[in-house]
Amino acid sequence: MALSNLKKEMQLMETSCQVVDEGWPEAWYMVPDAEVANQKCENRLSPNKPVDVAAMRALGLCYWKMDADTYSYPVKSIPWDPSEAADPRLAALRDDRGYSYADVLTIHPDFLPNFDTHVKNFFTEHIHDGEEIRYILGGSGFFDVRDPHDNWVRVHVKKGDLMTLPEGIYHRFTCDETDSIHAMRLFIGTPCWTPINRFTTDTENHPSRKQYVCLYCTPQGLNDDQGETKC
Ligand SMILES: [Fe+2]
Repeated sequence: MALSNLKKEMQLMETSCQVVDEGWPEAWYMVPDAEVANQKCENRLSPNKPVDVAAMRALGLCYWKMDADTYSYPVKSIPWDPSEAADPRLAALRDDRGYSYADVLTIHPDFLPNFDTHVKNFFTEHIHDGEEIRYILGGSGFFDVRDPHDNWVRVHVKKGDLMTLPEGIYHRFTCDETDSIHAMRLFIGTPCWTPINRFTTDTENHPSRKQYVCLYCTPQGLNDDQGETKC
């Protein structure tokens, strides 16, 4: 890539979260869990209640539109060395946010043994004690995240979407009806994929959850008049 293009790419990059609103995945409020007959369906309210980009940002989500057409990745690579990133945009994100580990997976019945069990487990509500970072290289799926009122927001991620979920947010994942998603997981430091499940663990008192609530679910949050958190 020419230096001028690379410079342009770099200018598009924000230190914390991409500024532009274009290209974000579609999101909507889900029906209550008791009405979910098939987790892989859209499960929209009727009428549909969309969730806009500002609301997704308010939940702490970050998003970057990536070029998943020009650059190719293996079907599976555990790990995948992020220093090998040929995509300058991915390399810039890696360096900007300190992503030192990556791997690449394909969640599809042909490529993931015990596919159904995995998909069922992915749908268990949980938190992490770090950020969750996913770059969708192909296919599609749903990330569900809780809003501050404990309602589910469903985000439909597709090829080219790179999304981060903040530490401590209640969330879950499922394939959609295509049963196919090719994704890169990124991590800072040594990866830990073990979820901290809600309801079977005291997640409400977990420091990561408390931090999330402080930052995103309380009015005093980050933006008090001193410019620093009160939590
Ligand atoms: Fe997760």
